[in-house]
Amino acid sequence: MGLSSRISRPGGERGAAAPAGVLGGSLAFGRRGGFVEASRRLKLQVHNRLFETVDFAKLSALDPERIVAHLTEVIDETLKDEGKLITEADRGALVEEIKNELLGLGPLEPLLHDDSITDILVNGPGCVYVEKGGKLLRTDVRFHDDQHLMVVIDRIVSQVGRRIDEASPMVDARMGDGSRVNAVIPPLALDGPCLSIRRFGGRRYTMADLLGWGSLSAEMADFLRAAVRARLSVLICGGTGSGKTTMLNCLSAYVPDDERIVTVEDSAELALQQPHVVRLESRPPNLEGRGEVTQRDLVRNCLRMRPDRIIVGEVRGAEVFDMLQAMSTGHEGSIATIHANNPRESLSRLEMMMLLSGFSFAQRAMRQQIAAAIDLVVHVSRLSDGSRRVLRLSEVAGMEGETIMMQDLFEFVRARNGSAAEITGVFHPTGVQSVHAARLALAGYASARSAARGPGAGA
Ligand SMILES: Nc1ncnc2c1ncn2[C@@H]1O[C@H](COP(=O)(O)OP(=O)(O)OP(=O)(O)O)[C@@H](O)[C@H]1O
Ligand SMILES: [Mg+2]
Repeated sequence: MGLSSRISRPGGERGAAAPAGVLGGSLAFGRRGGFVEASRRLKLQVHNRLFETVDFAKLSALDPERIVAHLTEVIDETLKDEGKLITEADRGALVEEIKNELLGLGPLEPLLHDDSITDILVNGPGCVYVEKGGKLLRTDVRFHDDQHLMVVIDRIVSQVGRRIDEASPMVDARMGDGSRVNAVIPPLALDGPCLSIRRFGGRRYTMADLLGWGSLSAEMADFLRAAVRARLSVLICGGTGSGKTTMLNCLSAYVPDDERIVTVEDSAELALQQPHVVRLESRPPNLEGRGEVTQRDLVRNCLRMRPDRIIVGEVRGAEVFDMLQAMSTGHEGSIATIHANNPRESLSRLEMMMLLSGFSFAQRAMRQQIAAAIDLVVHVSRLSDGSRRVLRLSEVAGMEGETIMMQDLFEFVRARNGSAAEITGVFHPTGVQSVHAARLALAGYASARSAARGPGAGA
């Protein structure tokens, strides 16, 4: 019959430890007030019965179909003993729920299976938000209590060999499918454990996707392709969740296959398709505070790896100087993202990062370094209707006195008649000729000026 004969007796203390926090947290039943208590009691009984017959240490190695069959069997037996009936649909939901709690991430499982969800934000056990179609929505998903949520967080971080406890209450991790996870627990998080998941779900968007969503015009995509091929160094700026990493991934796809690319990230999110890619990821210090490898260490190291291009997931601090130097000397065509609200601010942020990491150059020298390194800034933004657009393509056009000169080549002009719920507008070439027009032409781009005659793709 069921699994009991195959996987025999309970795993002793293991069996006892596993269920502690995983009971309750009803998703399917939680919506039907009076039913909640009955369902929780039933789950408790099913759990107890399972622990008498199943070795949980071996459970995850088993075929999911067998697990479902066994769960169904145990539920039916429990109900029979109690003399209760349950509908087929309720039983299915109960089996699913218990399976998720035993093997997966409990109440988060249904969210993780919904591909339209891009972010999952858990603010304590009773408050779970998701981002869907660019909008934040509160769900009725809940965890039973803090402990239940902690079991799930523990499961996520221990899968990647990290740990979370009072001594190290903040963790960044990556899930099996590449999704990025951050967890913060009390005492730092005041209202219970918090979990933020940026999902990728194995899907990586391409420029064709961005074009399909009206995030930029076809001419802008052509321009960007030529810019990458012409080895212009590109900085992608934008606010949080504005689509910087997605744009970086799309631009990286334009790097020719015969070049050696080294990527440096704090949490590896990029998925480059080229054959010759080396991926580096920084490492936090261990419990004794040792063994940290920063992005700066990685950027320095990668310079010794003969890269043709360096791709920095997000420039945040001390790596800025080495990165800029690499971009202006021999590794032109490198690409990075930066958290900043517009192109000019992104350059000031670079300057600020240099200052904060202890470079005591004259301001002019720092700006010269930046102007020599960065050619193009792509400004992405999440608009109030949830859409992401490229608001501006600006280039660095040298220095005048102490000031870095910038000029816009393309911009998104919002239509006046649009509403906050649905923003419309057009992408316009500004008509300004790029200072790199000759290089861009060699890379196959007609010219910024002739492109200026084309129709801006609507949005
Ligand atoms: N052009 C786009 N149109 C619609 N959705 C997009 C677009 N670009 C990115 N997204 C979605 O927006 C979310 C955030 O994207 P991404 O991770 O690239 O942003 P980010 O700016 O790098 O965020 P963070 O600041 O957290 O690093 C992802 O779920 C992604 O799938
Ligand atoms: Mg990012």
